[in-house]
Amino acid sequence: MKPTDKNFLDENAFNMRWACVEEGHIPLTAADWDIQVSSAVNESVTTYLQFNSFPYGNNSGMKAFQNAIAFHFNQRKKASIQSEEVIATNSAAKAIDDIYSFLLKEGDEILIADPVDFLLSECARRKNIGIKRYQQRSSGIDLAELNSLVTSKTKALVICNPHNPLGFVLQNEQLESLAEWADTKGLVIISDEVWSDIVHTQESFTSIRAVDSNAWIVYGLSKGFGLAGLRIGAIIAPSEEQAELLSEKQGYARTLEGASTLSQIAAIAAIHNGWEHTQEAVSLFKKNLEHAVRELNKTEFLACEMPQGTFVLTIRHPSTWNTEMLCERMANEARVHVVPGLEKWFGPGAIGSFRISLASTEEIASEGIQRICSWVNTYGSTL
Ligand SMILES: Cc1ncc(COP(=O)(O)O)c(C=O)c1O
Repeated sequence: MKPTDKNFLDENAFNMRWACVEEGHIPLTAADWDIQVSSAVNESVTTYLQFNSFPYGNNSGMKAFQNAIAFHFNQRKKASIQSEEVIATNSAAKAIDDIYSFLLKEGDEILIADPVDFLLSECARRKNIGIKRYQQRSSGIDLAELNSLVTSKTKALVICNPHNPLGFVLQNEQLESLAEWADTKGLVIISDEVWSDIVHTQESFTSIRAVDSNAWIVYGLSKGFGLAGLRIGAIIAPSEEQAELLSEKQGYARTLEGASTLSQIAAIAAIHNGWEHTQEAVSLFKKNLEHAVRELNKTEFLACEMPQGTFVLTIRHPSTWNTEMLCERMANEARVHVVPGLEKWFGPGAIGSFRISLASTEEIASEGIQRICSWVNTYGSTL
């Protein structure tokens, strides 16, 4: 694994990362890679560029892109999908937004986890779609709790699998019972699987589409292949017909929407020829996480568990501490930036915690952890 050039990161890595912090500070903030991606990406993009022409691509995605996503899910995530069900999107975030717009209307309600990545609520909030929050634990999602949240307005159960920021991965049986439950309630499942390439358990990842043929999937290549800045993701619809309807309604069919062809070229290469590179990256991230969990739990004040998936880690602090102030002081005094467990990032259930991302080199990740631990050991008893 080659580290990304530090000067390049300082100029180009935004979203609370290197380009947004002072020299000498470490941003363990937004979930993005500090290591180089597979060389297959560079090779395929370079080959495409030699024609020096950029024609329109197929509206819902290049055929090779749709095939690559279908292959990736069918071969590596136990799903059963057709390439015609795939729509190339400008990021996973856009995939969430489009699926909500297509399936839901103002006044409808959805069930989402608390905490969970802000995008799942933000996209709903912007459309005046109501949000009901459920808890997710290592044992899964409690159906009795879900039952208590359903009203006549509820239209969808949204799951984040693997879960950001808690790192839970739902197993086959848990997915089956959720699918059965959603079916009896007449709800559709929307599964955000953007983290599904980063799993640390013995068992490989199971997509919702292994157990529920009616479910919609959000996917992207930012986490598993390090392509965040290329803004490339996918919607997987439950049928070709549904994909066509979404494509029409959201403007893909008439070129109002669509993903850049260059980004699709990069994604195709990453999926077909960069999977081994992803496996190596996952090993590195796992090592970083294990080291962090060991060191952070040695402090008197912090607690965390090894995530089953993702390269992020939720760290709990004593409930008497102010989360926002803690994170601000760590940024200013320890020179390490984290994402505070505030409602605006994860929902009300994140309070009392902060999140770090460790898709970095061993050196940077362990330096960041060392700074957090020594700062907390020094000042913890005064907070
Ligand atoms: C659960 C979840 N969904 C969607 C996204 C958005 O991914 P992208 O930047 O590829 O749009 C993220 C990014 O962190 C995420 O954690």
